[in-house]
Amino acid sequence: MNKRRGFLYGMLCLAIASFVSAQEKAEVIINADLGTQTISRHIYGHFSEHLGRSIYGGLWVGEDSSIPNTNGVRNDVIKALKQIKIPNLRWPGGCFADEYHWMDGIGPRSERPKMINTHWGGVVEDNSFGTHEFLNLCELLETEPYICGNMGSGTVEEMSKWVEYITFDGESPMANLRRENGREKPWQVKFWGVGNENWGCGGNMSPAGYAENYRRYATYCRNYGDNRLFKIAGGPNVDDYRWTETLMKNIPRGMMNGLSLHYYTFADSWTNKGNATGFDDNEYFRTLENAVHMDELLTRHSAIMDQYDPEKRVELVVDEWGAWYNVEPGTNPGFLYQQNTLRDAILAGLTLNIFHSHADRVKIANIAQMVNVLQAIILTEGEQMVLTPTYHVFDMYKVHQDAVLLPADVRCGTYDRLERSLPAISVTASKDKDGAIHLSFVNIDPANDIEITCPVRGAGNNKITSSQIITGENVRTYNTFAQPEKVKLAAFKGASYKNGELRFKLPAKSLVTIELK
Ligand code: AHR
Repeated sequence: MNKRRGFLYGMLCLAIASFVSAQEKAEVIINADLGTQTISRHIYGHFSEHLGRSIYGGLWVGEDSSIPNTNGVRNDVIKALKQIKIPNLRWPGGCFADEYHWMDGIGPRSERPKMINTHWGGVVEDNSFGTHEFLNLCELLETEPYICGNMGSGTVEEMSKWVEYITFDGESPMANLRRENGREKPWQVKFWGVGNENWGCGGNMSPAGYAENYRRYATYCRNYGDNRLFKIAGGPNVDDYRWTETLMKNIPRGMMNGLSLHYYTFADSWTNKGNATGFDDNEYFRTLENAVHMDELLTRHSAIMDQYDPEKRVELVVDEWGAWYNVEPGTNPGFLYQQNTLRDAILAGLTLNIFHSHADRVKIANIAQMVNVLQAIILTEGEQMVLTPTYHVFDMYKVHQDAVLLPADVRCGTYDRLERSLPAISVTASKDKDGAIHLSFVNIDPANDIEITCPVRGAGNNKITSSQIITGENVRTYNTFAQPEKVKLAAFKGASYKNGELRFKLPAKSLVTIELK
């Protein structure tokens, strides 16, 4: 049943749609007492690479900057990130990770060597943001660091020493070097990536070649003291199922805790990414169609993993996902800077709902990327900062972190375009540790409101304690530095909850989350 769930995503609503009299109505049945899986908070993770203005300008401005900062990191960004409770942050790449030599990024900043960032615009990387700066930032944000080590151009020794430098508490060359650089106590680092996209920018390896290398590198990533590494293997590109199968077959259980998967959504394809703004309704439809392909990918990769790991000891780690469009006109093509519209908020809602529905295998995910790159949640320009529509989804959805997933049965109509159909709504629900139930609804239809009838079985005598909405004038609406609140999180009025049944009109092109307590 589980294996087929992903394919059913599209099929279920389509099949049932014929029983629903009008597209503008939907019935959702929530079983509040039947949850078994926990939604790992780590699927709400983020990613910041040395790419464009993600780190430099976006996060790091240096202690001497006129932009208000804490130890060199912008205060406005820190405040915004704390608000959404980011559970983990992946760094330093991406493709950059397999060219990064961590020793260049420690010690006095003025003495750190410079390098060329060959992947991303050929700009000079001065290494002023390195291991200490990153781990101190994670402490400030109260988030778990997720470090991606260099397998592509680095040695086993180099990766091994990085782990020792960060996590060893005793007397050793690397621990002593860390102390010389001002950090007495080790940091705790759990999530450790062994290379990135090693089928491509991370070394152009074959799956068997990578698996063999993984075993060597992972062997020397040691657990020091009470630090326990959670080792993540560089996984497949999109639908490369052979890669998944080869790694699952050739890496012994216990050596690999997670297997990464990367999937980006284009408005059309890699060679025709489309624009971040000014798209038409057909492009909107195609983008969402591409986004929900995630469900099939998770289903099929999980099915392979199930064959080799029925106990689900290896987690599927979607450590790069999000929308990838053409860069904003006039910006450096290597910097991947794009705007972010209500379409992206809807895409994020759909994707997070899909992750929830795969909570048994998908336990970590990282949207790409946090600031100023691809589907960013934050954009900056000099001292200005703006929160994107996608940011507000992470804010709205934080209530689902570590909550128990509740089964949801959705009977809805479709949003049709190009002679194709997508289910018009997507729903997810969870119960948190205090018993509060949160129901999140996404209406992808840009024109039609949908009347929702939602019996919440087994919920007891609850009341609506909060309702929030994200919407905008149209799906192309976005926030700018001059108009930062065109798409924002707002109170939602109009829902009623009587006799265990929730009723409300879900506005066109919106995301709504309702809390019952
Ligand atoms: O996120 C941008 C790039 O996309 C990453 O560096 C790489 O891993 C992926 O191809």
